Amino acid sequence: MTKDETLAPMRGRVQPDRATVASLARLNIVENPLSLALLARVRDQRTNIFEFGALSTHLASLVLWDTCGDVALAETKVPNFAGEPITVQQLAERVAGVAILRAGLLFATPFRGILPDAPLRQIGVRREERSLRAIVYGDNLPSEPDWADRVLILDPMLATGGSAVAALKHIRRSHAGVVAVVSLIAAPVGVETVLNADPDVRIFTAALDDRLNDRGYIEPGLGDAGDRLFGTLHV
Ligand code: PRP
Ligand code: URA
Repeated sequence: MTKDETLAPMRGRVQPDRATVASLARLNIVENPLSLALLARVRDQRTNIFEFGALSTHLASLVLWDTCGDVALAETKVPNFAGEPITVQQLAERVAGVAILRAGLLFATPFRGILPDAPLRQIGVRREERSLRAIVYGDNLPSEPDWADRVLILDPMLATGGSAVAALKHIRRSHAGVVAVVSLIAAPVGVETVLNADPDVRIFTAALDDRLNDRGYIEPGLGDAGDRLFGTLHV
């Protein structure tokens, strides 16, 4: 048996079909003509590291805007250009981000841009390639409760869902409020796994793809997001 044949943890595993998962109420597929055209470039193997980072960052922005479409607002006053007080809106919710290392760092720039006052934390999760088991290797989440009203779990790829569920379980130790998983590409089995793991979590993604291949990669997908983002791809 070759090494490659032993690396087929998804072989024989039944996966839910895309059409059934697409209709689930807590899944939001965020797309428009421009996002589909950007996704095409991101999926293209010929897209270089610089373009991959820039284009996927724009897609991440789009999904973040939608994820925050129902954040509560409160009125406040600021001085206008003439120094007169005017009434404006500010966020009434404490939103926090948790990026799953390493590919989740792709969300750092858009998150900082759209939510300039929100803390962005990290959790390290590694997916074991033989079992596809997610292993948490570190985090900087607060240990005291009530650190946010809404937590956004940021990771471009939702494949088996193991990494997102591992992050979710960590976050739920100290956060009982709203949680959303924000991704660029999700597989049906990953969506099902995450939604089954928590009755309140919602998922926002730029694409719901067809399935996972035998090795646990999303098809059509984009390959290994971390490798493409950080230039560690070995062809
Ligand atoms: C990738 C990706 C997700 C995870 C998704 O991370 O960034 O975190 O796989 O797969 P899952 O849904 O099956 O858990 P990887 O473990 O390759 O680490 P990296 O980001 O450091 O490359
Ligand atoms: N992680 C990735 O980066 N890509 C996949 O297709 C699956 C998991």
